[in-house]
Amino acid sequence: MELPFAESWKIKMVEPIRKSTREEREQWLREAHYNVFQLRADQVYIDLLTDSGTGAMSDRQWAAMMTGDESYAGARSFFELKDTITRLTGFGFVIPTHQGRAAENVLFSGLVHEGDIVPGNSHFDTTKGHIESRKAIALDCTVDEAKDTQLEVPFKGNVDPAKLEKALAENADRIPFIIVTITNNTAGGQPVSMANLRAVRALADKYGKRVIFDSARFAENAYFIKTREEGYADKTIKEITHEMFDLADAMTMSAKKDGIVNMGGFIATRHEDWYEAAKRFCIPFEGYLTYGGMNGRDMAALAVGLDENTEFDNLQTRIHQVEYLAARLDEFGIPYQRPAGGHAIFIDASKVLTRVPKEEFPAQTLTVELYKEAGIRGCEIGYILADRDPVTRENRFGGLDLLRLAIPRRVYTDNHMDVIAVALKNVFDRRDSITHGVRITWEAELMRHFTVQLEPVE
Ligand code: F0G
Repeated sequence: MELPFAESWKIKMVEPIRKSTREEREQWLREAHYNVFQLRADQVYIDLLTDSGTGAMSDRQWAAMMTGDESYAGARSFFELKDTITRLTGFGFVIPTHQGRAAENVLFSGLVHEGDIVPGNSHFDTTKGHIESRKAIALDCTVDEAKDTQLEVPFKGNVDPAKLEKALAENADRIPFIIVTITNNTAGGQPVSMANLRAVRALADKYGKRVIFDSARFAENAYFIKTREEGYADKTIKEITHEMFDLADAMTMSAKKDGIVNMGGFIATRHEDWYEAAKRFCIPFEGYLTYGGMNGRDMAALAVGLDENTEFDNLQTRIHQVEYLAARLDEFGIPYQRPAGGHAIFIDASKVLTRVPKEEFPAQTLTVELYKEAGIRGCEIGYILADRDPVTRENRFGGLDLLRLAIPRRVYTDNHMDVIAVALKNVFDRRDSITHGVRITWEAELMRHFTVQLEPVE
């Protein structure tokens, strides 16, 4: 008999979590203005708000914390980090930042100007925010297939080369660079194929443009290339990683995801002029060039995390758990962005709460219902997160309206996945009785989903 699959690690330290009653949760939701970001973490049983900074470090990472070098300038830990990044990506210039959006802020301060157009595949909201706040346009060139959640294709995160070429042909002089997000978080944690990265590179070369990878989940992307794309089955994750980055000029990185640290990020590039452009902004925004907002110990732990998480076994354990949750949802017929993504399952709220009008934010409503049901905190990646159009100030209802269940790395067991699946089934079973959603009572101008205040529509 073939042995069943099991995790490639064992557990050395545990943290208690607590259940609550429905009455408590209803009260807490009212106090949080129906925005789960406003809940206290103690009020949450299983926290799927994000996979960002919520992973469990390994014993080797904790050991590296103890030997971190906290020197202000030229710390050994910086060089450990830089050498690891260079070995994995080939990029020789590295600037640490305190997280991913800080990397965007520092690099884009040098590169993005008013009137620019930055094409890419579903820019993450901070990326879009850093482009739009500079009065530039984030142009989404994702493949149309990503919009059909039930369509089963292997690389749904891809850039549509035709859309990209149109943008380049029409507006080459306004395009400072192309940005490709690997994996494509907003489209459902969907990967981008090597063939697609190569097609983007060819177009960039044709029009004399550079390419940045927003690399928060690059290792998961490499795993999908290995397991889904022809010709990569026998390559190691590290070989695939290097081949991916050979097709880029620079990367911004939120290390809180595939670096498996609680805080951190960086910029890396092969071009000295971009390094110089970023350096100018790193010092006033983040700190001196060899720490850029990070502790020495955190850089040391990140160096180990990057090395460990570009090994197949660790990624296989990770993706297997996400697929396990997906299989449970399949049993109950709950619609999600197919196939399962790398870091999360994205429930298609518009297909679940069909009676809630889009103006009443179905995905946010589903987020609230799941929390009420079992104290599980997901995150709306939908119409609220999409913000308003910067010009018309209208809500943007053009994209998908999803409830994201992001799975922290090495934190929960498959038993927790079972609880999540059954809680969702219970909401799913009473979906027809949910006819009203929520309305906004207060919102910020940009990135409103963190602080938005809502009330139920009666
Ligand atoms: N790029 C992508 C693709 C991301 O998913 C994120 C963060 C960032 C950039 C910004 O990085 O948080 O370190 O500043 N995503 C988190 C999430 C917040 O929940 O998906 P950061």
